[in-house]
Amino acid sequence: MGPSLTPARTPWWANAVIYQIYPRSFQDSDGDGVGDLPGVTRRLEHVRWLGADAVWLSPFYPSPMADGGYDVSDYTDVDPRYGSLADFDRMLRRAHEVGLRVIVDLVANHTSIEHPWFRDHPDWYVWSDDVPGNNWVAAFGGPAWSFDSRRGRWYLHSFYPEQPDLDWRNPEVVAAMHGVVRFWRNRGVDGFRIDAADRLGKDPELRDDPPATAPPAFPENEQYAKLAHGHSKGNPSVKAALQAMRDAAGDAFLVGEAYVPAADYERYLGPVDVMFAFELLWAEWNVTALRRAIERALEQGGVAWATSNHDVPRAATRLGPNRARTAALLLLTLPGPAFVYQGEEIGMRDGDPADPPLDRAGRDGARHPMQWEPDPLGGFTTGRPWLPLSDPLQTSVAGQRGDPNSMLALYRRLIALRREMKGRLEWLESPEETLSFRRGRHRILLNLSTDPLELPAGNAVVVRTDGQDGATLPPDSGAILA
Ligand code: NOJ
Repeated sequence: MGPSLTPARTPWWANAVIYQIYPRSFQDSDGDGVGDLPGVTRRLEHVRWLGADAVWLSPFYPSPMADGGYDVSDYTDVDPRYGSLADFDRMLRRAHEVGLRVIVDLVANHTSIEHPWFRDHPDWYVWSDDVPGNNWVAAFGGPAWSFDSRRGRWYLHSFYPEQPDLDWRNPEVVAAMHGVVRFWRNRGVDGFRIDAADRLGKDPELRDDPPATAPPAFPENEQYAKLAHGHSKGNPSVKAALQAMRDAAGDAFLVGEAYVPAADYERYLGPVDVMFAFELLWAEWNVTALRRAIERALEQGGVAWATSNHDVPRAATRLGPNRARTAALLLLTLPGPAFVYQGEEIGMRDGDPADPPLDRAGRDGARHPMQWEPDPLGGFTTGRPWLPLSDPLQTSVAGQRGDPNSMLALYRRLIALRREMKGRLEWLESPEETLSFRRGRHRILLNLSTDPLELPAGNAVVVRTDGQDGATLPPDSGAILA
């Protein structure tokens, strides 16, 4: 057969805004204090109003919750706390009706230790006979091997001990995960976020990781950061594992999550459409670091941007309110899919961790319930929230809806404008400590300096993050000009 004459179409996700929902904290519909899928359905209207194209749902599968649902004990069902498969179908149908695509999380590297596979198919996991197999350290600290007294052997876990790693060299594992992907595709999902994609390829001989010779590219657990992770992850075999998922997923959107710098993306791209750019998320707030992070990711030709997620402190906490607004402007003017974590659109800050902390790796702060209404329970629940609300009286969707200078108004405006923003990113000359680039007829300007920046004459200001209308842009603010 000759080449197809149909011109390649731009895929729906190419410039999409994808809204991340952490189901446990989004909207409770039955008063048990835990968000659920009927709650998601109810709030899709908000996501649509905001202008997003799709939602990504963090795991809602049955789980003992040792890792907030990233410890799955059944890949093809819904945890009763979140509802049922029928609730999922209703949510999906409603999302499609209002024009939103739906992406689900594929936790392919590990299961929960309570998954029946661990009992029934021990050979689907990675074992060492009498001693821990090597020096690998789990991402959250501690050895990556734990003893299973029932079998008298050690099993590998790249994350918590409750999350044994699957052995992707075993074709039965590949076939089982194929089944999972097809199950959700047949229900109608539009894409998958592949969790811990880098872990799907490990050194076949399980050789020791060498000591680190440089500080880690991103913040890491102290003990974990002492090793370079050349053997415990990112082995070239990862491509075949991802290709297997691509084969099952057809033309669904696949975004890979790997906590690695952009230079490593090539190991993943191909089977996977885009990789999350953690370099931008963690970039220091200066021109050199931001520009380098953007350039490096763009060079790889398959990047998804995010400035927050459920694993890291929120942008308003990391950067402060003005920079968080400017970071939103940057996020939503870059070419490629942009992910917005629930609550970022109202500038939510981190809440206090539970006492004792629920997440042992210290991530409670970014997981507090969504603040819809300015009341003590934030409109999230009528019961006792699983994690207390943070500051709903100060920060909420309803509290910001009528305010044209709110973070919410800024996000909505930026998302609307993004639809008009076509073409590649071209860097422009600009004064020191400022960043400027062009997207089609739009010019983006960020002032990272400590001085006001004169706005270039002759351009209309389409958006500015400071909400003012003077001739200069104050420090830590940004503007879009046309
Ligand atoms: C990345 C997820 O985002 C995080 O929440 C989880 O702990 C690890 N992968 C392990 O699944």
